[in-house]
Amino acid sequence: MTNPSILKVENLSKVFRRISLIPDPKKEVRALVEMNFELKKGDSLGIVGESGSGKTTVARIISGLETHTSGKVHLLGKPLSQWLQENPVEFRKSIQYVFQDPIMSLNPRKTIYQTLEKPLKNLTELSGQERKERIEKLMELVNLRPEFVHRYPHEFSGGQCQRIGIARALASEPKILVLDEPVSALDVSIQAQILNLLMDLKEKLALTYVFISHDLSVVEFICDRILVMNRGYVVEEGDCDSVFRNPREDYTRKLIASIPLIQFS
Ligand SMILES: Nc1ncnc2c1ncn2[C@@H]1O[C@H](COP(=O)(O)OP(=O)(O)OP(=O)(O)O)[C@@H](O)[C@H]1O
Ligand SMILES: [Mg+2]
Repeated sequence: MTNPSILKVENLSKVFRRISLIPDPKKEVRALVEMNFELKKGDSLGIVGESGSGKTTVARIISGLETHTSGKVHLLGKPLSQWLQENPVEFRKSIQYVFQDPIMSLNPRKTIYQTLEKPLKNLTELSGQERKERIEKLMELVNLRPEFVHRYPHEFSGGQCQRIGIARALASEPKILVLDEPVSALDVSIQAQILNLLMDLKEKLALTYVFISHDLSVVEFICDRILVMNRGYVVEEGDCDSVFRNPREDYTRKLIASIPLIQFS
C-alpha cells in the first residue's frame, strides 16, 4: 500500500508588507519564495537555514497561524483554506505547534492542569473526568510525574517546561507536530533528553514531524529528510545522510562546518 501524502506545499510564497501610504518595494520582505515539499506519514523533515531564512514563516503558515501570499498548502489532500473554512477544529487537532521558548510559551498564571486542559476543552468533546484521565496520560507520555499538574510554570526547569509544551501539543492527538527550534533555548544536556523524548514519541504515536532548527546536528539526530533555506529560497534538499555527506551548495557546506561537536545519542 502506498503511503498517502499528509502535507503538501506547492509554490508557497509569503511577502510581508510594512504599512506605508505609498507602495514601496523596499518595504516588502520576501520571506518565502515558491517553496515546494511533501510529507508522508511518519516522515521527519528538518528545515534549516540562517536566521531570517523563512523557517518560522513556513512553520506558521502550514499550522494556520499565518496567511500566505500565493501557492498552495494541502493537509490530508484538502486545501488549507477549505480546512479553515469548513472544519477549523479538525484542522487544529491535526497539526500542532511546539514553540522555541518553553517558559515564555506557558501562561505563568495557569497551572499545568489548566494549560493542558485548554486544548482538550477547545478541540475535543471529552467530559471533565475524561479530560483528567487524558491529562494524567499526557504527563506520563512526556515523563513528568502526574502529581506535578497543579504546579505553576515557574516551579519547573526549562526542560520540564518544554515537556509540558510538548504535552500540550499532543493533547488533541495530532498527526503532525511542527517543532520550531524546540531545544535551542535549552542547555545541551537537556537538549539531548528532549530530543530522545521526541524520538520516542514519534515512534509511539506514529507522528510526522516538521522540525525547524538552525542547528544541523540536532536535525541530523532527529530527521530523515532535510530542506536547506536561504533568504526565503530552498537551496538544497534531500535525505539527511546524503546532504550531510555530500552537500551540493556552499551555503550548506558552511552550515555544516559551523556544527559544534556535540553527540546527542
Ligand atoms: N510579521 C512579520 N512582519 C514583517 N516581516 C516579517 C514578519 N515575520 C517575519 N518577517 C521577516 O521574514 C523573514 C523570515 O523570517 P522568519 O522568522 O521566518 O525567519 P527564521 O528563519 O525563522 O529566522 P530565525 O532563525 O531567526 O528564527 C525575515 O526577514 C523576517 O524579518
Ligand atoms: Mg524562526
